[in-house]
Amino acid sequence: MPAPPIAAVAFDAFGTLFDVHAVTACADSMFPGRGAALSQLWRSKQIEYTFLRTLSQRYRNFEVVTAEALHFAAHALHLPLDDAGAERLMAQYACLAPFPENGAALRALRELGIPLAILSNGTPAMIAACVASAGFDGLFEHILSVDTVQQFKTTDAAYQLAPDAFQVPPSNILFVSANGWDAAGATWFGFTTFWINRSGQPRECLGVEPSMEGTRLTEVVDFVRARHPADRP
Ligand code: LAC
Repeated sequence: MPAPPIAAVAFDAFGTLFDVHAVTACADSMFPGRGAALSQLWRSKQIEYTFLRTLSQRYRNFEVVTAEALHFAAHALHLPLDDAGAERLMAQYACLAPFPENGAALRALRELGIPLAILSNGTPAMIAACVASAGFDGLFEHILSVDTVQQFKTTDAAYQLAPDAFQVPPSNILFVSANGWDAAGATWFGFTTFWINRSGQPRECLGVEPSMEGTRLTEVVDFVRARHPADRP
């Protein structure tokens, strides 16, 4: 069967477009030598809580989940996080740095004439803040937040936001994520998927493989160029 042409691209936000570990410097200034540990545990707990809340049908938005995960991580690491400190760290989420090559890659995709979206667990306000801070305004046709369906990825309801917005079947949408679990869930859902594996992580052992794996967003441009209907003879 020929590989499906790609008519649209949807990106995960946190961890893929924006570096969640950009909080490390701020965390390290508050807790010298412990910033990286706090950032790692904060992120893994944040994701765990999205799964837990969705499985147990106890949805709270991603800002709440992120704050709860921060408090857990600080307790677990015996770090004295007060309200002002928590606010300072949470404020980092409004201006997470994008990975360096992302702006150029997104603009190159736009030049191919392909519509782009963000499909994220983040609230609309969290996503909008990072998009504006990175200078990515105007690059995306759709900013899709799972807050609309009150279920986090990897539910079908969350992923379905992209085909609904683009009015394109999932296999003709390239879903790009740096989160291995997200790439796996998106592949199960039926998207064509690109896993940005920046740090040489092992593949998830779930019996499902992303359609493509690379290390940088610029590789997505080459993949789409080869699979974009407008470029086909
Ligand atoms: C998101 C999570 C995975 O942006 O960070 O959806």
